[in-house]
Amino acid sequence: MARDNQIAPQHHGLNIANKSVLITGANRGIGRALVDEALRRGAGRVFAGSRGPMHHRDARVTPLTLDVTNPRRSDTPSRRSTRLTR
Ligand SMILES: NC(=O)c1ccc[n+]([C@@H]2O[C@H](COP(=O)([O-])OP(=O)(O)OC[C@H]3O[C@@H](n4cnc5c(N)ncnc54)[C@H](OP(=O)(O)O)[C@@H]3O)[C@@H](O)[C@H]2O)c1
Repeated sequence: MARDNQIAPQHHGLNIANKSVLITGANRGIGRALVDEALRRGAGRVFAGSRGPMHHRDARVTPLTLDVTNPRRSDTPSRRSTRLTR
């Protein structure tokens, strides 16, 4: 039985089931691991930002061109609004 000051287990972490998430640097390292973890947690859509081409075998992953230091080399919401709003 949980004590009053404890958080119920189901509230630990962020519930992203059936939600859309945007992850930068998604092609490798921590970003790639976050993509895989978001999918494992049931995300409905993962927008995977990377500076170069990226592919993922899971159909819930939507690759985006995204350089956080250069908006001109990034997909913008106005250019990709239909994809971003799903
Ligand atoms: N790994 C660890 O144990 C650890 C621990 C503490 C802190 N950190 C920090 O966490 C961050 C990520 O670590 P990591 O191990 O995942 O590094 P990583 O394997 O080098 O990956 C870095 C990622 O960031 C992307 N990136 C770099 N510049 C970018 C830009 N201007 N716009 C968009 N994406 C950009 C890279 O894309 P490209 O492939 O296009 O270069 C790559 O996907 C780093 O700042 C690191 O110092 C890591």
